Amino acid sequence: MSNWVKACDTDKVGSGELYSFDHDDKKILLTNLDGKIFATDRICTHEEADLSTGILSEEGVRCPLHLSVFDLNTGKPQNLPAEESLKTYNVKIDNNEVYVEV
Ligand code: FES
Repeated sequence: MSNWVKACDTDKVGSGELYSFDHDDKKILLTNLDGKIFATDRICTHEEADLSTGILSEEGVRCPLHLSVFDLNTGKPQNLPAEESLKTYNVKIDNNEVYVEV
């Protein structure tokens, strides 16, 4: 069963920005790349760095610790040392609010 939860208002995650959102035990990262908002896990699959302090680019989000880049659509790492994908979440925008399917 789907469970959509409000993460924030759209103005909290403007183009090129990252936003941290916690729900129960999930640590989620919202990113806005060229106006499209993505949601992935926020903790790097390599050594648990917090990706909210990473760098966003066209390739995805770059881990601040060992620089693996994760694709925002699939969560897949594009380079070592990370090998495991981040979990990704569906996102919808409704009335200037961002919802994540957890
Ligand atoms: S902790 Fe992210 S690549 Fe090592």
